[in-house]
Amino acid sequence: MGNIVNTIMKLVLAVSRPDTLRTLGVGAIFITLLHFIIKFEQVKEYGDFYNLYIPIEEEFVPLGISSPEDFPTSGPYRIPKIIHQTWKNRNIPSKFSKWVKSWVKNHPDWQYYLWTDDSARKLIRERHPHLLDVFNGYEDGIRRADSLRYIILYEFGGVYADMDMESLKPLDPFARKYACFLGQEPYEHPILDGGYEGLVINALMASRAKHPYMKLLMENLPKYQNMWSVMDSTGPHFVTLHFRDFNKNHPQPADHINGTYLAPSEYFFPTVDPSKYFWFNAQCGKFMKLKPIQQKACKSLKVNKLKKKPLSFSYTDHHWEHTYIDFRLSLKGPVDIKHLVPHAVIY
Ligand SMILES: *[C@@H]1O[C@H](CO)[C@@H](O)[C@H](O)[C@H]1NC(C)=O
Repeated sequence: MGNIVNTIMKLVLAVSRPDTLRTLGVGAIFITLLHFIIKFEQVKEYGDFYNLYIPIEEEFVPLGISSPEDFPTSGPYRIPKIIHQTWKNRNIPSKFSKWVKSWVKNHPDWQYYLWTDDSARKLIRERHPHLLDVFNGYEDGIRRADSLRYIILYEFGGVYADMDMESLKPLDPFARKYACFLGQEPYEHPILDGGYEGLVINALMASRAKHPYMKLLMENLPKYQNMWSVMDSTGPHFVTLHFRDFNKNHPQPADHINGTYLAPSEYFFPTVDPSKYFWFNAQCGKFMKLKPIQQKACKSLKVNKLKKKPLSFSYTDHHWEHTYIDFRLSLKGPVDIKHLVPHAVIY
């Protein structure tokens, strides 16, 4: 007790020195300003897109699709009816509760698996022991979470969804039509970030068991384990790279038993990540200097008012929580998974 009081006293003395106070003051003002700039950009109806010089021709057609494809409404399933989610243990941060429940509500006759760190290690030890060192060697939880989903889908098949994915409609039509389906980030993300199209994202993935694409991802984990960036090592860049390789080496229709279907972003990732509004605004502010495809992305964002809402034919929405940097998670009490999903299976 005396120790704590002592430490606090020292801290108060240190902090109240004039130069420390000045530094803290400047820091506080800076952070407050930054906070407001970001908030301002996020809440405004159009970002500043409304005022940017972005000429839009009458006949302009925005990126993406305007209506959904046809799906079978009956018949056998090609992907087993299982929802998989992962968390470090069975106590789910309460901010995810409503999104977890949305999956159960829209898939009442599907199984629900929650994979914890312990059950993940058990699965890997039993079925792919040579990957255990790779899995345990990852320094950040995000790489373990990424790698685990490929192993689960390879072994069990089903639909994997991140905790910040919300289900809007049942995925049964996709599970009937395809043996593997994947989502891509909103078209504008890779186009304005890097000038390229088609960034496969791993926040929602689905496949039959033993699908060769999941096998390819799983088998390449060791080779990429030491890549500096999470994106390259286990994340979206890793998935995108192997998606391209797989389809180059095994060209086959999307609905083939070994095929992969990359869905238009409207289905699964209809809304732009709000943390990018500010950057996209800066990019599109230099409209005349952008590549044609980037100009098209800026026009699409302006026409679609920054894509803030899912469409009538969106099946899921991604809430871009960036859980790995979000310290707010710890402020609210967690909920036991059995409380949210009484029939949840923990392997
Ligand atoms: C699917 O892929 C597997 C593994 O690559 C292969 O053995 C099998 O013959 C393929 N099936 C068809 C129908 O092409």
